[in-house]
Amino acid sequence: MNLRLGEPTRASVAIERVDRAGWKKRLAKLSPAARASLKARGFELRPGAHILLDKPDGSPDRVLWAGGEEGDALAIGKLASALPAGRYRLDGSAAPAMDALAFLLGGYRFDRYRKKPAPAAVLEAPAGVDRAEVERIANAVALGRDLVNTPANDLGPAALERAARALAGAHGARVKSIVGPALLKQNFPLVHAVGRAAREAPRIVDISWNARGKGPSVALVGKGVCFDTGGLDIKPDAAMLLMKKDMGGAAAALAAGAMIMGARLPVRLRIVLPIVENAISGDAFRPGDVYSSRKGLTVEVGNTDAEGRLILADALALADEAAPDLLIDFATLTGAARVALGPDLPAFFTDDDALADEIAKAGARVADPVWRLPLWKPYAAGLAGKIADLNNVAGGGFAGSIVAALFLRRFVERAGAWAHFDIYGWNPSAKAGRPEGGEAQAARLVYDLVRDRAARTRN
Ligand code: BES
Ligand code: MN
Ligand code: ZN
Repeated sequence: MNLRLGEPTRASVAIERVDRAGWKKRLAKLSPAARASLKARGFELRPGAHILLDKPDGSPDRVLWAGGEEGDALAIGKLASALPAGRYRLDGSAAPAMDALAFLLGGYRFDRYRKKPAPAAVLEAPAGVDRAEVERIANAVALGRDLVNTPANDLGPAALERAARALAGAHGARVKSIVGPALLKQNFPLVHAVGRAAREAPRIVDISWNARGKGPSVALVGKGVCFDTGGLDIKPDAAMLLMKKDMGGAAAALAAGAMIMGARLPVRLRIVLPIVENAISGDAFRPGDVYSSRKGLTVEVGNTDAEGRLILADALALADEAAPDLLIDFATLTGAARVALGPDLPAFFTDDDALADEIAKAGARVADPVWRLPLWKPYAAGLAGKIADLNNVAGGGFAGSIVAALFLRRFVERAGAWAHFDIYGWNPSAKAGRPEGGEAQAARLVYDLVRDRAARTRN
């Protein structure tokens, strides 16, 4: 869907921000009829509350909006779905750009399988806000959400490659893909092993944009498992139900890429997506199998359900070969990260304390929160293979998110800095600005961070 702000008109309904301190005075200035209406409808000025007041003729007059909970920068996004269709404008917003973005993000709906989208509340572009920028960010997030929400029967490896190509094409980026048996010839043994059982061939999609330009080189890698059955170590029904979202890392990488390219940031961008379906057939990879990796390390398969780190190992190795200044990967990698931090707070890992600081700050700035977990080296011992260099899982199952990150770390050597985001890629229930369903977690954060780095290296 296309998320847009409205052109300012005369006939729009103000969304007026009211706060506790000024509430008594504001009440006194309302008409007696409006005061009576507030009272009759039991309106209380609590966080998240709003009320639509009518004019004497019954047409909408203004919305009184109490603001959200402390620190909820996307709070106003709730109004995008709560208000009736019509045109609205901000009145008294302290952060109009963030409010406008929150409103667009809150108005997102996944309507691919619905007859016709219901008319919606439209927010007019606030004065002084870079409307194109806000719309670009919202639509990049919407792209990520759409990809995650699309079920695997309509978004298999071939369709995900097409979506990546469409985005690249829209920005004049170069795309290369390596598909099926060619993965073996070009040395991506792990991507091939994980994806070979599926009807649609496994692949690497490699996008470059502004390759001959100036600025730092940034590589984004995203886990693109279009469906994760677990493989022969098959998942039980409840754990498999949502596994269309296991390409959420690829969706986040594409969303961040869309923002970076759309804003024409002065960076040399690469997006590498390992794309597979972790399926079951006579050709499936097995527990106990040993494969070489692109990097040359041999890997023993302790569990076919730890497939994400296998395909990421080859993709990270490829991106790392070019020694990018910044290498970032996104992946719906472990259930353990969700046990630790829940669905709304992606874990991130990096050895670079300066980068960790930038990530935390960018996340707070743009309301895309994340939390650092340690690359605790002693746990890497658990990944020793019995007959190969590495096992893809450690015994015991403790610290699963850290162990997965430590596995990935073995495949990154030359990048100037590396960070790994273990995301959920999904909002289990609707929150302000975050409708239930797919979510491009950490994409806005990474865009902001890259923009900041690009600006600093320019000076
Ligand atoms: N895609 C899953 C991880 C996942 C599960 C993310 C549920 C979000 C919600 C991944 O491929 C997986 O299955 N990981 C296993 C690893 C285990 C076998 C070591 C996990 O987390 O259970
Ligand atoms: Mn899995
Ligand atoms: Zn997976």
